[in-house]
Amino acid sequence: MKVFSGSSNKPLAEKIAKKLGLELSPVEIFTFPDNERRVRIEEDVVDEDIIIVQSTSPNPNDNYMELFFLVDAAQRSGAKSITAVVPYLGYQRQDHVFRTGEAVSLDVIIKTLEAVGMDKLITIDLHSIKIPELFKIPIVHLTALGIFAGKIKELFPDYKNSILVSPDMGGIRRIKILSELLDGVAYTAIVKDRDLATGDISSNRFDQDLPAGRQGFQNNAKRAIIVDDMISTGRTIVAACDLLIQNGIAEIFVFATHPVLSNEAKGILQSSKALKVFVTDSIDIPDEKRFNKLEVLSVAEEIVKSLKF
Ligand code: R5P
Repeated sequence: MKVFSGSSNKPLAEKIAKKLGLELSPVEIFTFPDNERRVRIEEDVVDEDIIIVQSTSPNPNDNYMELFFLVDAAQRSGAKSITAVVPYLGYQRQDHVFRTGEAVSLDVIIKTLEAVGMDKLITIDLHSIKIPELFKIPIVHLTALGIFAGKIKELFPDYKNSILVSPDMGGIRRIKILSELLDGVAYTAIVKDRDLATGDISSNRFDQDLPAGRQGFQNNAKRAIIVDDMISTGRTIVAACDLLIQNGIAEIFVFATHPVLSNEAKGILQSSKALKVFVTDSIDIPDEKRFNKLEVLSVAEEIVKSLKF
């Protein structure tokens, strides 16, 4: 087995290789003046099982092109099998037509991933549970929820006095799973409306159909744990924190798998009501995007466990 990395998340690729008892195999990734890429695998891969690690944020367009070229290079060089580890699969939020006339970006990405010729794709915490069904190649869909449950138990011996909060209705399945991992901790979901043209968010009420959520508040839970698949601008988290504070919650912690973290996210998360923001290393976070409340948990072990040949 040989592990190659694109340029988007080398620290995670190195951890994966190390846990497999390997070093990253060398690749040359050259950027032309007009931003085109040339990719070359610099090791013999004939009859080898190849792992290519490439996340697709930030710069999803460049990172996807690198991934496509790495897969092509491995295939042309005689690899026995090619597994792409794409911890964060960019464009997954545009998985259907929201407004007439829009492209379904994810559909285009899936068709291209299949066409370049990989045998398997491993990814983590997709935005929607339905996405794997859209692929015709095998998908391994991992989750960071087990890592989050472990961290919550470690941090809060009284974790049963918490309430899990999905900041939007799309995350209900996620918090139900986490609740099961935490022996049935109460949960609730916020009804979030986002203006698709401006990006403005309004999160001003809790879903009324989740009895466990109401029970959590009746039990006077003082700690809320917000769980989401990704943080981009941070506005969803801030809106959820504000609503929770208005409802008497004293302590708020955030767990989100993918730190997409746009430029404004650092400031607004650091000054938010959340006491800590836990994310994973599915996306590499440069120093300039890090902030004091941020803590990064690694998904390397989960990925390695899934790399069974
Ligand atoms: C949306 O459905 C996702 O689950 C996240 O809540 C969203 O992408 C976060 O975006 P932002 O940080 O920009 O509010």
